[in-house]
Amino acid sequence: MGSGAVRELPSVARSTDPPAPSISRGEAVTPPASSLLLGHVPELRADPLGALLRWNRAYGDVVRVKARHWTYILNHPDDVKHVLVSHQSRYHKGEVLRLGRRVFGQGLLASEEPLHLVQRHLMQPAFHRETLRGYGETMVAKTLELVARWPKEGEVDVASEMMRLTLGIAAKTLFGLDDVAETEALALAVDDAQQWIFLRQNSAVPLPDWVPTPVNFRYRRAVGVMDRLVYRIIQERRRHHEGATDLLTMLLEARDEHGHGMEDAQLRDEALTLLLAGHETTANGLSWTLYLLSKNPQALARTRSELQEVLGGRTPTVADLPRLRYTEMVFSEAIRLYPPAWIVPRESIEEDPLPSGATIPRGAQVVVSPWSMQRDREYFPDPNRFDPERFAPEVKENRPAFAYYPFGGGTRRCIGEPFAKMEASLILATLLPRVAFSLAEGQDVAPDPLVTLRPRGGIRLRLGPPPTAG
Ligand code: HEM
Repeated sequence: MGSGAVRELPSVARSTDPPAPSISRGEAVTPPASSLLLGHVPELRADPLGALLRWNRAYGDVVRVKARHWTYILNHPDDVKHVLVSHQSRYHKGEVLRLGRRVFGQGLLASEEPLHLVQRHLMQPAFHRETLRGYGETMVAKTLELVARWPKEGEVDVASEMMRLTLGIAAKTLFGLDDVAETEALALAVDDAQQWIFLRQNSAVPLPDWVPTPVNFRYRRAVGVMDRLVYRIIQERRRHHEGATDLLTMLLEARDEHGHGMEDAQLRDEALTLLLAGHETTANGLSWTLYLLSKNPQALARTRSELQEVLGGRTPTVADLPRLRYTEMVFSEAIRLYPPAWIVPRESIEEDPLPSGATIPRGAQVVVSPWSMQRDREYFPDPNRFDPERFAPEVKENRPAFAYYPFGGGTRRCIGEPFAKMEASLILATLLPRVAFSLAEGQDVAPDPLVTLRPRGGIRLRLGPPPTAG
């Protein structure tokens, strides 16, 4: 156990859970459903996070449930690797992204092959660690602005504060946008679009877009705001982009081996995808990190002492990152317990026998879940405990690679992973030496499995005077 391992988190497993094995390998097991008509929908509606953990613990590595379609939930690292990496061509994203496509079109997250691979090749160079270095300054500067805005003493909701911070960073690094009013308008539009996707996904009888409901109205307005903004910036950059270093400019200049670049519509889809895929995930990861640190004073003290040792009170730069090892471990452990992308869904294109022995039929919905895999006690003993030492190199190398996959895998692995890790470390390294905080009383912090894993109702932190060095 590491020195950062301190308190037990509230367990998400229930004391009434069925005892562990009787686990069957080699076939999919269907748990008893509470409704003849609706199958497992009531369980999934009431508590999807609890259901995933209970089912995998009680019924094994391949669980088959009846939601809108038959859905296979996989929880063995070999099966996860099989679906995401070694046999990924037998799967596509399928119907699950149908609604998302209405907002961000054929961008990298939602597109299928062959378009996806063409685009991924075009875009990959913009996400190389070296290329991203230039964004470090923006990440630190925006965090310093945030700290300056926070009251010296009082409460803040870090969930909304982190969302605002990462959106500001995304707007600047993606689009070169620094205007507060425009960034706020963009934030509202992004929020409305996400609400719409979530409500549509979860409504039993979704009304068509043209029905004049307030939610549909806000959705159309949101897409309009995002479109106008992105197309305007594309036009500006096409006219003149000397000296512009934002990601959009890089995408605009990207050429394939035939010298072809992207059309405006494709650029728009990619830019909005990056904005939507990139800021909320990282914000949630950071909010959970601050929450977990507030509950684990030893881990917090150890992070601060690393920051003091490496930075000695100055602001961090990208060059410091290789030495901020513990800070990085803290973030890795936070997104183990609260993976922002809590499920990674797929649809099978053909019948597929899995390494565990079960066979996925053609056209089935398949879900792999970092949430349940990363809380599996076989790979993470005492899984609900926060312990950054799990990410010490010698501990990490004894785990199968796909026991931990917050950024997915294969050709669809998160393109923004280096961006997110750099951003998280720089924000923590700027924030933690400058702000003392504790969890405000009277709140019941719990994860809310929306499109990403948000804290339900936010996380209120009580701020105090800056921590003493060391
Ligand atoms: C902690 C932060 C983040 C987490 C946990 C995360 C997680 C993921 C996961 C699990 C996937 C794979 C989805 C799948 O296979 O279906 C993914 C894909 C993607 N992510 Fe991230 N992400 C994060 C940050 C970012 C950032 C900062 C960006 C952009 C700047 C980004 C852009 C994307 C894109 C474009 C894809 C689609 C990649 C493809 O299919 O080729 N993500 N992300």
